[in-house]
Amino acid sequence: MVAPMGLRKIIIDTDPGQDDAVAILLALASPELDLLGLTAVAGNVPLALTEKNARIVCELVDRADIPVFAGADTPLNRKLVTAEHVHGKTGLDGPQLPDPTMPLQPTHAVDFLIDTLRQEPEGEVTLLPIGPLTNIAMAFERAPDIIGKVAEIVLMGGAYFEVGNITPAAEFNIYVDPEAAEIVFRSGVPLTVMPLDVTHKALTTRPRVEAFRSLGTRTGEMVAAWTDFFERFDKEKYGSEGAPLHDPCTVAYLLEPDLFTGRHINVEIETQSVLTRGMTVADWWRVTDRTANATFIGDVNSDGYFDLLTRRIGTLP
Ligand code: RIB
Ligand code: CA
Repeated sequence: MVAPMGLRKIIIDTDPGQDDAVAILLALASPELDLLGLTAVAGNVPLALTEKNARIVCELVDRADIPVFAGADTPLNRKLVTAEHVHGKTGLDGPQLPDPTMPLQPTHAVDFLIDTLRQEPEGEVTLLPIGPLTNIAMAFERAPDIIGKVAEIVLMGGAYFEVGNITPAAEFNIYVDPEAAEIVFRSGVPLTVMPLDVTHKALTTRPRVEAFRSLGTRTGEMVAAWTDFFERFDKEKYGSEGAPLHDPCTVAYLLEPDLFTGRHINVEIETQSVLTRGMTVADWWRVTDRTANATFIGDVNSDGYFDLLTRRIGTLP
């Protein structure tokens, strides 16, 4: 499908995951964006489930036209760590949805990333990784010529002031594949990072979940049901009044960047230490002379974020 002029072309790299699902729905509800494809990666649950869940989400809103590709089933050189304790055995626990009928694309996700970036003009495609960074790193390693073609990477991952959620030092997406994260953070691609510092300020409070449910649509009901399931773990762990709705922050940033504030700083990835593997060492106070490589987001207008989400989800069936 040839996108009308002026649309922002994006690829979402994802490990659905209820919050990934909401991010994908937000993108599909946004006419400013041209979603070229979904590339699935192992993360919250194994690859066979993340690619299936990506197709389930597309079919929920009658978008079987969106190509879904399967990518890496393990990190670059680590054993896969998953998060069924948060997302459930299927990765998309909540109301049972029918198995997908749309086909998985035969092309490997990494080949899709490489081919697409080679075909598109420079600076046309924005990558939105919202799971471990294995697919992106593999594409950059296999085809360094595409690095300069990427307009921007807006990713969900990392933590600094908020510290870790899978270990005391590391956020899950970075922890699962720290070597992949190091490749992406050192690539030189313009990088915007949505860490736990900001996503933990975007909580699915009861009124916000009920606003989804009050939409009276099947998608509104699904989003409410997924957040009902997804939030039980974080509310118990943090004693908070809701769960952080992490991944849609990346899409929301493309749509309304003024909802977010951050700093352009240096961020390095810990890959050597067992204790702090996957830590994003963010030089927030610029105490080193290390070159700034990322816009590290620290705050969000959370009411504005959920208003945007509710309005856009409300346009879906
Ligand atoms: O740490 C939160 C991140 O890990 C989110 O992307 C969530 O979907 C999981 O992948
Ligand atoms: Ca995710």
